[in-house]
Amino acid sequence: MNLINPIYYGKEGIKEINNFIQENKPSKIVFLVDENTHKYCYPQVISGIETTAETEIIEIKPGEENKNLYICIQLWETLTHFKTDRKGLLINIGGGVLTDMGGFVANCYKRGINFINIPTTLLAMVDASIGGKTGVDLGSHKNQIGNFALPRMVIVDPEFILTLPQEQILSGFAEIIKHGLIADEVYWKEIAALKEIKTENLEKLIRTSIEIKKEVVSQDFTETGLRKILNFGHTIGHAVESFFLENKTPVMHGEGVAMGMIVESYISVRKELLSRQEYEEIKEYISSLYPKLAIKEEYFDNILAFMQNDKKNVNNEIKFVLLEKIGKAVYDISVEEELIKEALRTYIEG
Ligand code: GLY
Repeated sequence: MNLINPIYYGKEGIKEINNFIQENKPSKIVFLVDENTHKYCYPQVISGIETTAETEIIEIKPGEENKNLYICIQLWETLTHFKTDRKGLLINIGGGVLTDMGGFVANCYKRGINFINIPTTLLAMVDASIGGKTGVDLGSHKNQIGNFALPRMVIVDPEFILTLPQEQILSGFAEIIKHGLIADEVYWKEIAALKEIKTENLEKLIRTSIEIKKEVVSQDFTETGLRKILNFGHTIGHAVESFFLENKTPVMHGEGVAMGMIVESYISVRKELLSRQEYEEIKEYISSLYPKLAIKEEYFDNILAFMQNDKKNVNNEIKFVLLEKIGKAVYDISVEEELIKEALRTYIEG
């Protein structure tokens, strides 16, 4: 069984969609877009698609606050209204919010229809759209409801990055940094040599990051072991993101993960895994790119409450992915609350 979706790049991808359409003859093709991708990306995609099937477009609002079951219900109702049957094809064109939710909607609709992801943000290209995780948030709890479901293919067109605001690039870049830290020291050095993020450097990094993610996911699709390393920086990062989301001052996913990687690297040192020198190197590089998040000591208990709900926990113990060294992560490490608080305090003071 192929445990990872095929990934195609650029114009080759549109050809592959056309091949898929020719072979599978979908009864209807529905494009899921948001306000931005409708305007900037959909025209480019549709101009290359060859089909005689009826097509429809569903536009949703962008943003994490719209990644929930209420929007899913509207999407299922719209698919029903369009008389989409089990041979329908959903093509998700958007960032991680849209591809996560679109995949979930497709996989639940009539017990599952085919879907294809066309990620349009850096974050979705190197992480969210690849590997078959789908889902939505439940209140402020990120990705609390979801399942594993593979798209038929993912089409990565780095050209879409050219229309992205810098903050979106920075958000996705945190996942690229993560890939270097957890799996490949040489890749980390290549990344850390970049003093600023230029779009012309990104295509190569996107391909390397996707290869790293593919390698990990293909060994452990349903995250019973190794795949957990892809969550480095996310135990803290998701909790902080959820905290700010609940307080109606959302931060970008990558900002939460960037902070999470610094704090979790500190914990790695305190657990006598990572060397202090490598921790300083990581902290210095990430801090040179990302603004410091406005965390205060009085938020700690709320942030910890979100961590208690992390999907990696077992028996109420908060389990972390930590670094043994740059390029090598370990998972399922229990970390006591006092050490988590100490690490957060060090982040605030550092
Ligand atoms: N985003 C982490 C994973 O796909 O496992």
